[in-house]
Amino acid sequence: MALPAAAAAAAVATAPGKAILLGEHFVVHGAPAVACSIDRTVAATARPLPRRAVRIDSPLGACEAAAGEGMPGGLQGPLAAACLIAVSGAQRAGVGLHLSIDSCVPLGAGLGSSSAWCVAAAAALRAATGEEAGADSVAAAALDSEKAALGSASGVDTAACAYGGFGAYCAGGGVVEGWRRIDAAERLRLVVADTGVPHSTPRMVGAVSRFRDQNRPEFEAMAGESARLAQECERAVRSGDTLALGRCMSKSHALLSRLGVSTGTADTLVKAAGAAGSQGAKITGAGGGGCVIALPGRGKDGEEAVARAMRSAGAAECFVADAGVQGMDVRPAPP
Ligand code: MEV
Repeated sequence: MALPAAAAAAAVATAPGKAILLGEHFVVHGAPAVACSIDRTVAATARPLPRRAVRIDSPLGACEAAAGEGMPGGLQGPLAAACLIAVSGAQRAGVGLHLSIDSCVPLGAGLGSSSAWCVAAAAALRAATGEEAGADSVAAAALDSEKAALGSASGVDTAACAYGGFGAYCAGGGVVEGWRRIDAAERLRLVVADTGVPHSTPRMVGAVSRFRDQNRPEFEAMAGESARLAQECERAVRSGDTLALGRCMSKSHALLSRLGVSTGTADTLVKAAGAAGSQGAKITGAGGGGCVIALPGRGKDGEEAVARAMRSAGAAECFVADAGVQGMDVRPAPP
């Protein structure tokens, strides 16, 4: 329904990045994954524009589209996805919109930056144009735009960024139906180490599909093992059994290495974390670069020892993240 221009009001939304504790890639082929939010966020502010156009300012650049012109050409990645959401939102509401994005989630590093952009943008734009902006409708709108602009996605990243906390995810039935919240026994902290090599999720997903086509029986066995580990991982998160969780993460890394999505640097970081007392470590997200996550021993000393070891082993950046933080938030923007 088209709303009168006067219904547009400024709104600000935030969405956290994500880490996948278990099951990336296999989730694309029907196995479950376990994911969580992390305390690095994307913020999006949507404001009415006095002219019938859409303008976006972001760390990836700016773009502008006049009403009725559709999407500007040449946009890529999360900027293209955000623009798609803004253009269709402005069209539905019959208003002009300005969207401004700030991101503390590193791009192309496996931490859900694209999904966090889309969730924050969809929430701010929907709220600004008077559309329902609860997590379910925002997650669905964000995933639609990600798929249209970036290619196919299982929805696990979008769900973790929209709902936050910890969750088990199964693709196939839609992003809302796919996410099942896990009540964690305790707060978790993860050491996140960036290999410094940006990756392309669609390229890595394509490489895994080729592996699957060439090694069907082995892939099916590996997906079965990943699904079993996901159940064990869920139980460990629920009961606070960090030893079991760490074991699951390390076994998951071995499966991902066999799939060919780890790299020499990522394997070195995983080993360094283990030698420094981490309970488990793995790549997170699509791999082929990006980040490794490690579950450190308890306390600040344990975290610092693992972070130090991963830095010495060649991590381009390393930080400790709170896992399972609140999901998206949307509210009226200050004037
Ligand atoms: C990327 O964070 C996770 C993948 O499983 C892709 C997807 O689920 O869409 C590699």
